[in-house]
Amino acid sequence: MPDVNSSVNSTDSTLSLSAFGRALGEQTGIGELMDDLGVALAEKSGELCMLGGGQPAYVPELIDLFQKRLKDLSNNPEMVHTVLGEYDPADGNLAFRKAFAEMFHQLYGWGLSSDHIGIAAGGQSACFHLMNALVGEGEQVMIPLLPDYMGYRDQLVSGASFYGVEGLIEREENEFKYRLDKEAIKNAPQTVRMMAVSRPTNPSGNVLSDEEVKFLSDECLKRGVPLLIDHAYGEPFPAAVYVETDPFWAPHHIHLHSLSKLGLPGTRTAIVLARVEIITLLRNMTAVTSLANPNLGQALVMPDIKNKRLPKIAESIVKPFYQAKRDRALKVLKENFDGKIEYTVHAPEGAFFLWLWLPELKVSSKECVKILKQNGVLAISGHWFFYGKEHLCAHAEQCLRITYSMNNDEVERGISRIADTLINDPKI
Ligand SMILES: Cc1ncc(COP(=O)(O)O)c(C=O)c1O
Repeated sequence: MPDVNSSVNSTDSTLSLSAFGRALGEQTGIGELMDDLGVALAEKSGELCMLGGGQPAYVPELIDLFQKRLKDLSNNPEMVHTVLGEYDPADGNLAFRKAFAEMFHQLYGWGLSSDHIGIAAGGQSACFHLMNALVGEGEQVMIPLLPDYMGYRDQLVSGASFYGVEGLIEREENEFKYRLDKEAIKNAPQTVRMMAVSRPTNPSGNVLSDEEVKFLSDECLKRGVPLLIDHAYGEPFPAAVYVETDPFWAPHHIHLHSLSKLGLPGTRTAIVLARVEIITLLRNMTAVTSLANPNLGQALVMPDIKNKRLPKIAESIVKPFYQAKRDRALKVLKENFDGKIEYTVHAPEGAFFLWLWLPELKVSSKECVKILKQNGVLAISGHWFFYGKEHLCAHAEQCLRITYSMNNDEVERGISRIADTLINDPKI
């Protein structure tokens, strides 16, 4: 661990910080990105195309549903008191956890009980607590397929670090796909104490195959470490997954679900499925750091968890909604790029993103994103999603993430501006 004291900004701050304060309180990659996106959103003049963030879309059927749930809630004074006026237990509302376990049992037959279910204030918070509690000084969290979610990269404050393994690139005619580098994963040091993957993967839209998940699960079992599978975009909700998957349970798995991409990021609600000791650990940490979790998200989806309709809503409304947006974005991409720009796109199997590989980019992806912003479009530089490595590979500097969850006009204008910039700006 570095020295105990330093200041937030040596030129103008008198704050003296601990190692913990420095790790979390100084500007981080994710903080910079959230600021950039927040400022851009606040200043949005209609000029900037916001293809940067991971915001869920405005899905009219879901807005109707949440509106109805809010009305039902507000018409019931006792419920208003329970939801807004009472602290939940630190692991969440027991009735909710029971109903959630039953819904999962009906879906997958996993046979888990409410003791295996814990609530957290968003997936981000769940990862922060779990990674820091389970992986310590001199140990590593393995990210077995880079690129993966940049939100993990600044989370470790307990002297641990990431160990990233780049995906192998499989090329098809117009697309490419990352595959696990199984040899590199097997050869990783024994100091790896946890693996974490997002499925579907933010940023690439990759979906690890069932066979790949089984491989990771077996590898974790051999090492006696947990496998955290982050289903932020996954099954059974929001179900932004456009290939078949068959999620499975094992006692060393931590399945992380969130209401955010279903359209409720403002409620800060994540649901963790894991063995009882891990749920207890999470509960105890929540009690210390925040007493309890937000109640509102659980209350809003409770009726559709209880009657087990939530997976059907996701399957019949959310999945086709994003799939149509994906198809449209791909079509526009091809119309604007084909024959004019050297590029490949990752097989868009899930989530809300197109992941572009521009092998002939003359500047770094970070520089490219700056130039794109000057030309009226926000995208995210690929380099953020490669971490836990000593050196960035050339590929990391050649990728961009663009989001297709915004309205179609904005996505189309944004893609066309990216193409114009890549074709006409001599610098890139
Ligand atoms: C892969 C992934 N995991 C976790 C999160 C965190 O989401 P939340 O904290 O809103 O549940 C995100 C947010 O974008 C994400 O993309």
